[in-house]
Amino acid sequence: MTTISLALDTPELAQAYEHGSDRQFNHGKLLIEALGVRRGQRVLDVGAGTGRLAAHVAEIVGPEGSVVAIDPLPLRVDIARKKARDNLTTAVGHAEDLSAFSARSFDVVYLNSVLHWLDALQKQRALGEAARVLKPGGKLGFNTQARERPHQIEPVQRKILAELGKEAPGAAPYNHKVTVDEVQTLLRRAGFIVDTVEIRTFVDHAADVDEILKQSRSGSFGNHLSHLSPDERREVRDRLAKELEAWHTPQGIRLERNLIFAIAHTASN
Ligand SMILES: C[S@@+](CC[C@H](N)C(=O)[O-])C[C@H]1O[C@@H](n2cnc3c(N)ncnc32)[C@H](O)[C@@H]1O
Repeated sequence: MTTISLALDTPELAQAYEHGSDRQFNHGKLLIEALGVRRGQRVLDVGAGTGRLAAHVAEIVGPEGSVVAIDPLPLRVDIARKKARDNLTTAVGHAEDLSAFSARSFDVVYLNSVLHWLDALQKQRALGEAARVLKPGGKLGFNTQARERPHQIEPVQRKILAELGKEAPGAAPYNHKVTVDEVQTLLRRAGFIVDTVEIRTFVDHAADVDEILKQSRSGSFGNHLSHLSPDERREVRDRLAKELEAWHTPQGIRLERNLIFAIAHTASN
């Protein structure tokens, strides 16, 4: 059973994600590059959020190709829908149920920054569904947080929550991360031929702790620290600000993140 809620999103969080998700967008562009998406292809973006990456991919596949962008959060699909055009359609939908789509109907399926939000069963179903809707020789790509190398800020947040007696294994930042080995196993079990599975490290800078928390909340569609009261959240914020004082650089608070990038394909027939 999933411990991540899809009922905590708000119009403000959806807008904050649309305007504050450059990081995910840039990781997504690298994923699309690794997948070698090209003109004329039919592509499925699973967990497309507000559709920024899907709109970018629609440019790449051009009028001879098409992109379908699905996400379970209606408020985010509302924003994605504004980007719809002849070769880009949007719909509310879940990774683990792609029954709206025919078997062998896409050249490429990708999940950008989505897999760690799915529990074990959802992951298995999502990859099985991706294998079903891909054409023979079709490509799957995703990036996801690496369990064996968590983002630099995570142990700090865990420590603060532990100090407050508020650790909650089910709640973000305790999402459903996997390791490189687990990704390999998941892909093979779903019938994929694995091309590459590797951890990539990214460094970025945040202006302040409030920006970090805003991004965490919008990126987790309201799940981040959702088990805390407003007072407890303020306490976490203040402690985090103190812990991160040493991390300030002239560019802002320096943060290192690690993502698994995976590319696989289905057999040719
Ligand atoms: C960090 S956002 C990434 C959004 C987008 N892919 C991007 O790159 O900006 C995570 C997304 O995963 C979606 N998600 C959560 N559970 C999902 C599920 N069961 N099936 C598909 N998407 C899901 C959320 O709705 C959210 O939009």
